[in-house]
Amino acid sequence: INCHVPRERRHILEVLFNGLRRLEYRGYDSAGISIDADNDDHLEEVKKKKGLGLGGEAARQLSPPLVFREEGKIEKLVTSVYQEVDATDLDLEFLFASHAGIAHTRWATHGPPSPRNGHPQSSGKGHEFLVVHNGVITNFLVLKETLVRHGFVFESDTDTEVIPKLAKFVYDSLTAEIESNGGGETVKFSQVVMEVMRQIEGAYALIFKSLHYPNELVACKCGSPLLLGVKEFGEEDRRGAFVESELILAKDGKPKEFFLASDASAMVEHTKKVMVIEDNEVVHVRNGSVSIFKFEREKMGKLRGMPRPASVERALSVLAVEVEQIQKGNYDHYMQKEIHEQPESLTTTMRGRLIHGGSKVKGVLLGGLKDHLRTIRRSRRILFIGCGTSYHAGLATRALVEELSGVPVTMELASDLLDRRGPVYREDTAIFVSQSGETADTLEALEYAKSCGALCVGVTNTVGSAIARGTHCGVHINAGCEIGVASTKAYTSQIAAMTMMALALGEDTISSCSRREAIIDDLINLPDKVREVLKLDNDMKELAKELMEEQSLLVFGRGYNYATALEGALKVKEVALMHSEGILAGEMKHGPLALVDENLPIIVVATRDATCSKQQSVIQQLQARKGRLIVMCTKGDANLMCPNGSYRFIEVPQLQDCLQPIINIVPFQLLAYHLTVLRGFNVDQPRNLAKSVTIS
Ligand code: G6P
Repeated sequence: INCHVPRERRHILEVLFNGLRRLEYRGYDSAGISIDADNDDHLEEVKKKKGLGLGGEAARQLSPPLVFREEGKIEKLVTSVYQEVDATDLDLEFLFASHAGIAHTRWATHGPPSPRNGHPQSSGKGHEFLVVHNGVITNFLVLKETLVRHGFVFESDTDTEVIPKLAKFVYDSLTAEIESNGGGETVKFSQVVMEVMRQIEGAYALIFKSLHYPNELVACKCGSPLLLGVKEFGEEDRRGAFVESELILAKDGKPKEFFLASDASAMVEHTKKVMVIEDNEVVHVRNGSVSIFKFEREKMGKLRGMPRPASVERALSVLAVEVEQIQKGNYDHYMQKEIHEQPESLTTTMRGRLIHGGSKVKGVLLGGLKDHLRTIRRSRRILFIGCGTSYHAGLATRALVEELSGVPVTMELASDLLDRRGPVYREDTAIFVSQSGETADTLEALEYAKSCGALCVGVTNTVGSAIARGTHCGVHINAGCEIGVASTKAYTSQIAAMTMMALALGEDTISSCSRREAIIDDLINLPDKVREVLKLDNDMKELAKELMEEQSLLVFGRGYNYATALEGALKVKEVALMHSEGILAGEMKHGPLALVDENLPIIVVATRDATCSKQQSVIQQLQARKGRLIVMCTKGDANLMCPNGSYRFIEVPQLQDCLQPIINIVPFQLLAYHLTVLRGFNVDQPRNLAKSVTIS
């Protein structure tokens, strides 16, 4: 929403479209947009004629907001909006002069992707209320039944549609009440939204727009992420001059532009000054200023006459993200860029955290953990909790954490822990691993572990995310923005960060000193070793060409590289859409061996570590069944591991066993990338998936 800014800057459609493009990785089934249909001059005219404020009666003289929704990618929406603009002779300057707009890119939960299920969802004819929503409303069926009884006709299969309809119902009831009391007052937009919040249950970040409140937006959240960005005009000239403690809520009268989005990437090209909106806060933007209130359920009840909600004032934080980070640069795809930038992302993860060189004792410094290391070491158990790739990163570091801390580590998929309500104790340390810091299952598991009294530690890539804020302490992996839906650089940085965590946990044990020093030496070598593995790009492309028609791929690993097997198979599955299964090699004889024949490609991870002689016999057993083997081994070990030769070898440099998963995953990432391109699928936006799964 922009206010009092020079006319040529009011390109709200372009701002919204670009914001959607930046958020597309979060969901891409359908997209929609809404902006006001009336410009300032008309609003002023109506106001003067009726002698009223912009709310209430005057709004009835206005045209309904314009709403566009399209199934599929954002560019389809952009094309159709501009086509419509051309066809209807709408004046572009006029559209750009509009002040407040909302837009949405969807990852379908309730109802298939289609224009009618896209957002904004509407209160009905006339679009009195419009809503974009991230999350799930769990009591939507009950609300829907009530609203249907009141004559509302539902048009979509979404849970979201109850929200604008409920807003209209609330607005009409409050207005009728005022009128029956002789009129005079007007209903505030934020008041309507708070009553809606009182009635809905579930997880949501919502932005409301209304015919009754042109030039205004109200946003609120509970469970799903929401950021407010503030741009002051003239900011370009003063870039970098903001201090973190600067308060924006001062009504200083300076022209401002406000942005509301679930993710910083949508606003970073406009401003770096943001405020993370907390659960149960309501943001009301109007007349060039913003007010934030705390919604307190207990104080609600009867809306009229309720106490004025407490206003919230917080300092803005300054984003560390650069626009280049969220652009593809010279690469064809984000996933490709993110694979190739791993030497740099790993360097950033370790920057300032390793103590080495000179006479200093080697060690690690993790500021966010240092005050809690003693408690963690004394825990009865450590739990690693996460989903998808983040779970695999935990699995890759489990053995080292056990080795250096002496504390047993159990692995928990967040959804399974919640399904079982598995026992968690006060003496436990629960470590939540999440790239986005917003994954709903992981977040819910965090609330659960907290309620059980465990010490909760976060390992995330997103400063200010719900998991970063909700945990007692933690480590940021600092891998930089990851846009490709398939996680690559975040995975390797998660392992590097958790390896440093294991080193910190072991630092009071003299017996492990030389082991820790050797790991630190190899952490320093890590970026160069990753550079070396990235040179396998062409080999992996060749392998992809050979495998592109296959139906299925198996990956065998064990020890540290059980995680590599699972994560390697996941990469191939999620982007190349090829069935692929990661198998613990120790379990081979208990079932998977039945699948082996001369056709099915099998990748065996057999780099040097304590389990490699066992992998040698796995290879022999597979060869005895004429398995079509691709063996990943340490450089120079091909003959040793596979005296009878193999279909192919992938040779990688050697590092300390616990760091080997970081090196070993890279060829799989490259293979998955090339398979996807060759098979003609969308690399960055794989079918049916989303980057941040903010619903459970
Ligand atoms: C989704 C993404 C995966 C990711 C998982 C966990 O499934 O597509 O790439 O590993 O969520 O996400 P998190 O942000 O918690 O690491």
